[in-house]
Amino acid sequence: MNKDVIIALDFDSKEKVFSFLDKFVDCKPFVKIGMELYYAEGPEIVKEIKKRGHKIFLDLKLHDIPNTVKKSMKVLSELDVDMTNLHASGTINMMKGALEGLTRADGTRPLLIAVTQLTSTDQESMENDLLIKEPIDKVVMHYANNAKIAGLDGVVCSPLEAGKVHGVCGENFLTVTPGVRLAGDAVGDQKRVTTPKVAKELGSDYIVVGRSITGAEDPVKAYKQCVKEFLGE
Ligand code: C5P
Repeated sequence: MNKDVIIALDFDSKEKVFSFLDKFVDCKPFVKIGMELYYAEGPEIVKEIKKRGHKIFLDLKLHDIPNTVKKSMKVLSELDVDMTNLHASGTINMMKGALEGLTRADGTRPLLIAVTQLTSTDQESMENDLLIKEPIDKVVMHYANNAKIAGLDGVVCSPLEAGKVHGVCGENFLTVTPGVRLAGDAVGDQKRVTTPKVAKELGSDYIVVGRSITGAEDPVKAYKQCVKEFLGE
């Protein structure tokens, strides 16, 4: 089973990203490229970071009709990223289309992960804005199970949900979990956070850490602390 610490590269220019990555001289962390950086710099930034030897989670959260998502995933498959994602609310058909598009001619493909309900959505906004009246926990597990039925590899969720997702979808179904902070760091806009050590105990497969590393005085030291706690290395 693969487990790793993924650093969220939440920067708005390649200069900022490279000055950050240049600090890592003796290791090549798994990194996440989100919409902000991708829309600012385009596919070139993915290729350049890949050339430097990093594994990449391309966090673009696709959601459209199945045919459009399938064709877009085909384009992304050529960027040679290691993990990418979409919204499970696009339906099982959309997820199946995505998987088809992402699979290269030789049968290889990046890991494909689903977002269930965004952590910014709560019970009230789900009921009032989306007219979904079921408990949010049930909706999250239902969407996770849909992702499993479609053949996806896992979901993005809170470390606090990782055990339940594994219970519903199996131990091999991956849980990729943001909302992680080193002890003593500011929580910021995250609502429920855990430390890398607790995320490990709760069964997370990959933790996504942004500000606890990017905002640290010594980012390399903070990254190594996350790895030590999460992987026990
Ligand atoms: O700085 P911080 O550690 O909070 O960053 C977490 C990263 O994970 C950000 O890039 C954020 O967009 C992403 N994310 C999240 N919650 C989700 C999905 C993605 O925090 N449900």
